[in-house]
Amino acid sequence: MKENIEQIKNEIISLLPTLGTNKAFYDAQSAYLGKAGKITMLLRGLGQAPKEDRPALGKAINELKVWAEGQFEQAEKTVNKAELLARYENEKLDITMPSVKDEVGALHPITHIKNEIIDIFAGLGFEIFEGPEIEDDFHNFTALNVPKDHPARDMQDTFFITEDILLRTQTSPGQIRTMERRKPPIKVLIPGRVFRSEGDATHSPMFHQMEGLVIDKNLSVRDLYGVLDYLAKKLFDGEAQTRLRPSFFPFTEPSVELDVTCCVCHGKGCKLCKNTGWIEVLGGGMVHKKVLENGGIDTNEYNGLALGIGMDRIAMLKYGIPNIKLLFENDQRMLKQFK
Ligand code: DAH
Repeated sequence: MKENIEQIKNEIISLLPTLGTNKAFYDAQSAYLGKAGKITMLLRGLGQAPKEDRPALGKAINELKVWAEGQFEQAEKTVNKAELLARYENEKLDITMPSVKDEVGALHPITHIKNEIIDIFAGLGFEIFEGPEIEDDFHNFTALNVPKDHPARDMQDTFFITEDILLRTQTSPGQIRTMERRKPPIKVLIPGRVFRSEGDATHSPMFHQMEGLVIDKNLSVRDLYGVLDYLAKKLFDGEAQTRLRPSFFPFTEPSVELDVTCCVCHGKGCKLCKNTGWIEVLGGGMVHKKVLENGGIDTNEYNGLALGIGMDRIAMLKYGIPNIKLLFENDQRMLKQFK
């Protein structure tokens, strides 16, 4: 038994420095001092020792127990401290580290153009109306003076859904829908996506138009030119010159196109304006009598003027975007430039 006491003491001395965690510590403590621990068992075995040895042995075991308790108490403090330090180390925050940046998005160039046109016209008392992208043949063509089998339908290569339902090829059907809902005088802007089966560097199967419609008494081509000129100069350059060219649209008579002096060369001639000095900006005209009638307007009292702008084209011109695809690929490197 005496040897046993020595051995246990040595065991504890070499064990204590190896206890790295709380769990290891408590396991070790109970292996010696717990109910079935080695020291407890020694005390219990005292009865088996020869009677004359018992007092000395008992004293020695008790001393061992007190010593061990002291040792474990010390060790507990060390282990707790080590564990706390380890936790601090693990959960340490580096408050000098730069934070993750919140990225702020940018408006799409088409949205910029749309907002700009709306701002220009809002000052003139225009309202905004948005028609459906899935249209019927009547509103997209027939009511706009393009009956079935009319050759003008070839100008707009159409995605048909059924024989009568299609993806609108222009925002002009919004003119009819406005007339159906509103009594004159009318001043509306109709922005929206339009669809045609076409595609190259300047054409995309989905693009954006802005329609303008005014219905009032005694409107003239002079009013039309006034509105178009005002818009073009606000959009491009207050110093720019504008000109009207005769054109053809089935829903206007007369029909015009508006050119503005080139924003790059100011009329001298360059690559952008193909050396003409002029850039085509939009189409327009006096609303055809038949179109007004199809919209239920009394043509004895009222007439109208209308305009249509390709917003993608304007964005490409204003921002120098060479290919229309760049507008729809959602490449961050491109979009970030519009912050
Ligand atoms: N809808 C025509 C197109 O897509 C553009 C247009 C031209 C609209 C003249 C108009 C207009 O309202 O008066 O080509």
